[in-house]
Amino acid sequence: MNILIIGSGGREFTFAWKISQSPNTEKLFIAPGNAGTEQFGENVELAGDDFDGIGKFVTENRIDMVIVGPEAPLVDGIRDYFENDESLKEVMLIGPGKQGAMLEGSKDFSKEFMNRHEIPTAKAATFTQNTLKEGIEYLGSSNYPIVLKADGLAAGKGVVIANDEEEAVAVLTEMLVNKKFGAASSKVLIEEFLEGIELSVFVLTDGKDYLLFPEAKDYKRIGEHDTGPNTGGMGAVSPVGFASDDFMDRVEKKVVIPTIEGLQQDNIPYLGFIFIGLMKVGNEPYVIEYNVRMGDPETQVVIPRIKNDFTELLTSAANGTLSKQKIDIDEDAAATIVMVSEGYPGSYEKGREIHGLADVTDALVVHAGTKRKDYKILTNGGRVLSVTGRGQYLGDALRHAYDGVQYVTWQGAYHRTDIGKDVLADHID
Ligand code: AMP
Ligand code: GLY
Repeated sequence: MNILIIGSGGREFTFAWKISQSPNTEKLFIAPGNAGTEQFGENVELAGDDFDGIGKFVTENRIDMVIVGPEAPLVDGIRDYFENDESLKEVMLIGPGKQGAMLEGSKDFSKEFMNRHEIPTAKAATFTQNTLKEGIEYLGSSNYPIVLKADGLAAGKGVVIANDEEEAVAVLTEMLVNKKFGAASSKVLIEEFLEGIELSVFVLTDGKDYLLFPEAKDYKRIGEHDTGPNTGGMGAVSPVGFASDDFMDRVEKKVVIPTIEGLQQDNIPYLGFIFIGLMKVGNEPYVIEYNVRMGDPETQVVIPRIKNDFTELLTSAANGTLSKQKIDIDEDAAATIVMVSEGYPGSYEKGREIHGLADVTDALVVHAGTKRKDYKILTNGGRVLSVTGRGQYLGDALRHAYDGVQYVTWQGAYHRTDIGKDVLADHID
């Protein structure tokens, strides 16, 4: 089978690493990929929003399956584009259509979906510029802290936790009137603050059946002990100690099954991944958000723990035969430590030479923002790479990952040193 992966980060690197191990994979292409994905396939100079270019490439290279890594092409309708084209409609594409992608593309849509299907989530109300006055009144009778969310995609920056009414009114006005996030904040959700611990849960579905992947925890803030601004993710671990069998049963019954059934009831065809961001409040799961793709850097710890032939799993999902598959999860733990450019998540420089990559032997170096120039590998983004370690226990996985990190250097490289520590403590308790 010939496969095209769309995207260029650590998530797509990990897909390529896994998919290249399958005997069912013939040719593998990654568009646009990074310096590391060249180990597994051929990089193609195509952007995720260039549907015409992707379509042409797929036809010319007899691609059987397209795996869409990031959310933007899905929200923009890449599946619909393929389905409406005679020569592309038979191609297997992993990812939902425009309607299903609204679960991530609009927080108002996903909140209504959850309420309609009685999926546990924080209470919320939605306001627009026309109802700003009502929004301000609502903030006057709310408890604090409170969460304000821009409705649309805002590159992970559209959520603000306000500690008091004054701050909340300022943020609401900024989003609705000053259009802080452009069209994405033409609607704003005001949401109850949930006190708990976060967990990422991943599902692959063909619309009828589903497979539950290993759970993961990611570390979003730039600074040690979760301080400072949000990033795309500074590390991840799997499994997660507090996600007990009993808790995961609740997640499946109260969240996963109602989500799949809800999509069917609403006549929303859905083929692809669902990434459910949860808050564990006491022993109960609440959905914070849906994403219509895998997480990054969670993929870097989830996929290595899946023993199945991944190409086969995705083929089953595309053919609607996922009921015939059983997920085979490796008991061993995985941890990934993200190394970023100096300045990230603010502005940073690119083009610095990375050293020591070949010295990492007991862990997997996952490329993200990297670029090859002759024989050199250069930084080419904020999140440059991550190092994934494995081990029987999470402590071993973390040790392998951190050992690997020690070898990799470039001017201004930064990483967090506390990834997984909270979950380790959780284990000992
Ligand atoms: P989101 O973009 O919806 O994932 O939100 C970004 C982050 O904001 C989440 O990962 C949480 O840490 C936090 N967050 C979002 N919604 C809530 C909520 N209702 N209560 C507490 N924290 C939240
Ligand atoms: N790591 C969070 C995300 O991929 O959205």
